[in-house]
Amino acid sequence: MKPMADKKIIAVVGATGAQGGGLVRAILDDPAGGFAARAITRDPSSAKARELAQLGAEVVAANLDDTASLARAFAGAHGAFGVTNYWEHFSTEKEMAQARSIAEAAKSAGLRHVIWSTLEDTRRWVPLEDGRMPTLQGKYKVPHFDAKGESNHYFTDLGLPVTLLLTSFYWDNFIYFGMGPRAGADGGLAITLPMDDRKLSGIAVVDIGRCAYGILQAGEAYIGKTLGIAGEHLTGGELAAALTRALGREVSYNAVPPEVYRGLGFPGADDLGNMFQFKRDFNDYFCGVRDVAVSRALNPRLQNFAQWLESNASRIPLG
Ligand SMILES: NC(=O)c1ccc[n+]([C@@H]2O[C@H](COP(=O)([O-])OP(=O)(O)OC[C@H]3O[C@@H](n4cnc5c(N)ncnc54)[C@H](OP(=O)(O)O)[C@@H]3O)[C@@H](O)[C@H]2O)c1
Repeated sequence: MKPMADKKIIAVVGATGAQGGGLVRAILDDPAGGFAARAITRDPSSAKARELAQLGAEVVAANLDDTASLARAFAGAHGAFGVTNYWEHFSTEKEMAQARSIAEAAKSAGLRHVIWSTLEDTRRWVPLEDGRMPTLQGKYKVPHFDAKGESNHYFTDLGLPVTLLLTSFYWDNFIYFGMGPRAGADGGLAITLPMDDRKLSGIAVVDIGRCAYGILQAGEAYIGKTLGIAGEHLTGGELAAALTRALGREVSYNAVPPEVYRGLGFPGADDLGNMFQFKRDFNDYFCGVRDVAVSRALNPRLQNFAQWLESNASRIPLG
């Protein structure tokens, strides 16, 4: 095992969260791997931050809204993982400013590898004047995708050694994001997605961090590349069938049109309705760029949906 001082430090934004947390744990799980984890958080005294410190991560305070704090937190590191949390504030402007902070801090710290957790700028496929889905907030089709995709240029313009990582729908949304099976008017459980019979590219969120670790381990191989990852691509019917088997209760697939989904009334329903429609209408591209075999080569522990359900089905709330 390398002495601590010889290890390459990876500064992980979102370390107390789902994506970054998976990367911190992947680094700590492999003490002989040559990397050390620096967990970045706004609050080092939080329970999650203290847990990471106990596991062996260096915990450093910084705020994505304060580029100087981030530059200090990146100093001396080999690389960084960057992620932003649109759902905390629902502001594309803030998300893009935070992405820019990550890029500028990485530049000032002279990092050798940056992974930016991004998504497609869907306006490349569906220009604003395309009426098949509504324009949202005046200039987006899928705000939480478009803001991330538009932010890619902050990294590339600065000439950073960046890997643009295209993530997939977390199956963990069935637990935490209110997307689990719900009882319908007939009392039966159903998942609701506006995907018709097309496949949803999904992943266990912990595997995003593990794939990111694989990218770092690969050294130069993914620098300057865009890489999509997924654990499995499944239709709504296939997701429902797997949920039925794992839960021991019948779950059906309620395929609604995107306009119905957009009108469901929860915050962000319009954004997610457009997102699912994008994934439906450009399904071959979307699943094609998220190659399961490539993801498994990066992360041999990559789970498929049935494997994820084995350890997580009991945590899915049945509404
Ligand atoms: N749900 C899905 O299916 C899905 C799929 C693909 C992509 N995404 C994207 O994933 C992103 C969220 O990532 P996640 O799920 O890993 O998030 P998460 O579990 O909700 O955690 C958010 C993390 O971001 C950190 N953070 C937020 N604001 C910060 C700030 N101002 N300064 C420093 N750190 C900050 C938090 O750290 P502290 O609180 O400790 O400071 C926390 O670690 C969203 O933008 C979403 O669009 C989601």
